[in-house]
Amino acid sequence: MKMTLKAVTLFIGTILLFLLGVTIYFTVGVVRRDVPEIKDATVLASLSRESCIECHEPIAREWRESFHFRSVTGPFWNRIRTKGFDRIFQGLRIPCMNCHAPANVLDLPQGTHPVERNSARELGVDCVSCHVSSKGIHGPGRSGQAPHEVIPDKRFFDPALASTSLCRSCHDEALDHAKTVTAWAETQFAEDGVTCLHCHMPEVKARSVVDGPMRVRRSHRFFGDKDAEMLGKAVSVSIDVSEDRQAVVNITNRTPV
Ligand code: HEC
Ligand code: HEC
Ligand code: HEC
Ligand code: HEC
Ligand code: HEC
Repeated sequence: MKMTLKAVTLFIGTILLFLLGVTIYFTVGVVRRDVPEIKDATVLASLSRESCIECHEPIAREWRESFHFRSVTGPFWNRIRTKGFDRIFQGLRIPCMNCHAPANVLDLPQGTHPVERNSARELGVDCVSCHVSSKGIHGPGRSGQAPHEVIPDKRFFDPALASTSLCRSCHDEALDHAKTVTAWAETQFAEDGVTCLHCHMPEVKARSVVDGPMRVRRSHRFFGDKDAEMLGKAVSVSIDVSEDRQAVVNITNRTPV
């Protein structure tokens, strides 16, 4: 009888101690975090986020199929929202929307993550998130046909720089789920100059704007691991097992570069 009481006390004590530990861990985490400044990216008084989507419908159509568009309205977030957890995340200032509904990335110093924006979050990672800075619209600067000003920017015409700067602002070191750029930099692909854009923004012949010319440009679908076609097409994988039971995994890039 005495033993049982001791065991029960020990059991309850352990649980209480564990709960205390968890509470302290999260409280310290929330208090220590820099409170991100919430601001809107677009300084373009004349062009709204929605206007890019209207004129650039051929690109927007691709983007709507991507997880960039669905980064706030995908299955995960819908489930979170229906349970009301999104408000708890926001209340605790857990910085999920910093990358999932970001303001501006082009003005960020290298190695820092974006801040969340306070409007049109449902558009997720949208045209303005990637293309607009406090100075205006940035692009490769190839067309010269735009009715709006375009700031030609190396980060859009050099795929290697795009990968290590633009993609890196979100696809790196955030949480364990987004360390892609670091992982890629250690592969042969990086050494061979095969960048994020070569695989995830393959070249397509298409229009950039409604009624615009058909040109070769990069796709905005951002195919990923949830895309069977991408999985099947992008790489071929084989495993050789030698007699001393060493396995060699061969991954061959079959993406046209
Ligand atoms: C620094 C940027 C950043 C922050 C902050 C961030 N994420 Fe993400 N998240 C990403 C990126 C980039 C991806 C895509 C990576 C991938 O699919 O592997 C992603 C993917 C996801 C996915 C989809 C994963 C899958 O495999 O389908 C979920 C769900 C998710 N994040 C939830 C969260 C939650 C919850 C938080 C807050 C606690 C959060 N994210 C904070 C950048 C971020
Ligand atoms: C995740 C970041 C990202 C998002 C989101 C994004 N873009 Fe882009 N966009 C790029 C990159 C990178 C390039 C440069 C690709 C290249 O090398 O040609 C580009 C290129 C372009 C170009 C130039 C195409 C050409 O003719 O060469 C246009 C126009 C454009 N984007 C418009 C849009 C519009 C409109 C949206 C929203 C529907 C959008 N982008 C969303 C990253 C993005
Ligand atoms: C009134 C229509 C219209 C609106 C609104 C518009 N664009 Fe454009 N944009 C164009 C046209 C037309 C071109 C030239 C397309 C071509 O050459 O195929 C262009 C070109 C571009 C380019 C590529 C320019 C280059 O030379 O690199 C980018 C990037 C771009 N737009 C981004 C945006 C973004 C971001 C927005 C929203 C803030 C936006 N556009 C709003 C019509 C528009
Ligand atoms: C502003 C932040 C941001 C930037 C910049 C950004 N991404 Fe993403 N990306 C995300 C988030 C967030 C997700 C995950 C959406 C989700 O699943 O909820 C994602 C998803 C993806 C996916 C789909 C992953 C999957 O699971 O299917 C690919 C591929 C991708 N990004 C490639 C890129 C490339 C290449 C660049 C650079 C041109 C880039 N991204 C720039 C935030 C960003
Ligand atoms: C040689 C082609 C190739 C290159 C280069 C490449 N990827 Fe991928 N990526 C793939 C393929 C294929 C998948 C789907 C299979 C998988 O998940 O491993 C994928 C999956 C992803 C995913 C979703 C799943 C995950 O593992 O997080 C994201 C996000 C992503 N890549 C982003 C990037 C970024 C950012 C870069 C540049 C730093 C990059 N990729 C470089 C081919 C490539």
